[in-house]
Amino acid sequence: LRHLLTTEGLPRELLTRILDTAGSFSGVIGKSVKKVPLLRGRTIINLFFEPSTRTRTTFELAAQRLSADVLNIDVASSSTSKGESLLDMLRNLEAMQCDAFVVRHADSGAAEFIARHAAPGVAVVNAGDGRHAHPTQALLDAFTIRHEKGALEPLTIAIVGDILHSRVARSQIHALRGLGAGEIRAIAPRTLQPRGIEQLGVRLYEDMDAGLEGADVVIMLRLQRERMRGALLPSEGEFFSRYGLTEQRLERTHPQAIVMHPGPVNRGVELDPRVADGPRSVILQQVTNGIAVRMAVMSMVLGGQGEAAPASIEEVA
Ligand code: CP
Repeated sequence: LRHLLTTEGLPRELLTRILDTAGSFSGVIGKSVKKVPLLRGRTIINLFFEPSTRTRTTFELAAQRLSADVLNIDVASSSTSKGESLLDMLRNLEAMQCDAFVVRHADSGAAEFIARHAAPGVAVVNAGDGRHAHPTQALLDAFTIRHEKGALEPLTIAIVGDILHSRVARSQIHALRGLGAGEIRAIAPRTLQPRGIEQLGVRLYEDMDAGLEGADVVIMLRLQRERMRGALLPSEGEFFSRYGLTEQRLERTHPQAIVMHPGPVNRGVELDPRVADGPRSVILQQVTNGIAVRMAVMSMVLGGQGEAAPASIEEVA
């Protein structure tokens, strides 16, 4: 794996290997063993042009637990504010002998642009670009589903909310289809349905109750107002009444269904707080799993094909 820019088109064998490698790391996420020496001497730069809580922090923790040196660039206070171009900034950071950039940017295609211009040997990992892709979020979601439910093949997975503006939904659909998930449903008001989404093998629903019927996994998405740019917005109250996940609506799903959300959660807009904090919610497990999945990705882009990952917790203890 040279870069990780998208989950689209990734072969099942590679997706499975990333999740398996993350599984080998998830045992070292606990408090007893904090570090493995796989990336000692390597330097990773987090380049976040958009706000982030979970992604930036778990990439940083992942790098630290792999023993890499990690730098967080505060782009707002960098010399780009004095007119330095993105490419000049990259050349200068590369001159500091970095090995990888983790990139978040508001523009779709930004991570790919940086990957195209990165020096040979410098890896780029997309931490979310515009509406396009958020591959590590999709991988940690797939990891969480597999961990909670076992095999993906028999599952019905419903993705609910602002699918039109969601890089997470797009990456989830590609990853889950690539991994052979049984049925993927997209539930959204007509104005928030991306054109042609059915061509990705997704069943589209406008009616939430119908779409939730018998689902094993429900993934809620927030309204991504920062990417709507003047679109006709539903009011938050109106959206909650039609697409908010309540305890009552959850009864339509499989009795052991799990509830997921990539965060940040807007309580009372897409998710009733009683569901967000309820027994079916695995939202905080997703965050924890993000560390192991990002450890897997970073070890694979910087250390070869994942062969360097420990086969068991004993190997690193
Ligand atoms: N899920 C996610 O990308 O969260 P952050 O924006 O906090 O990184």
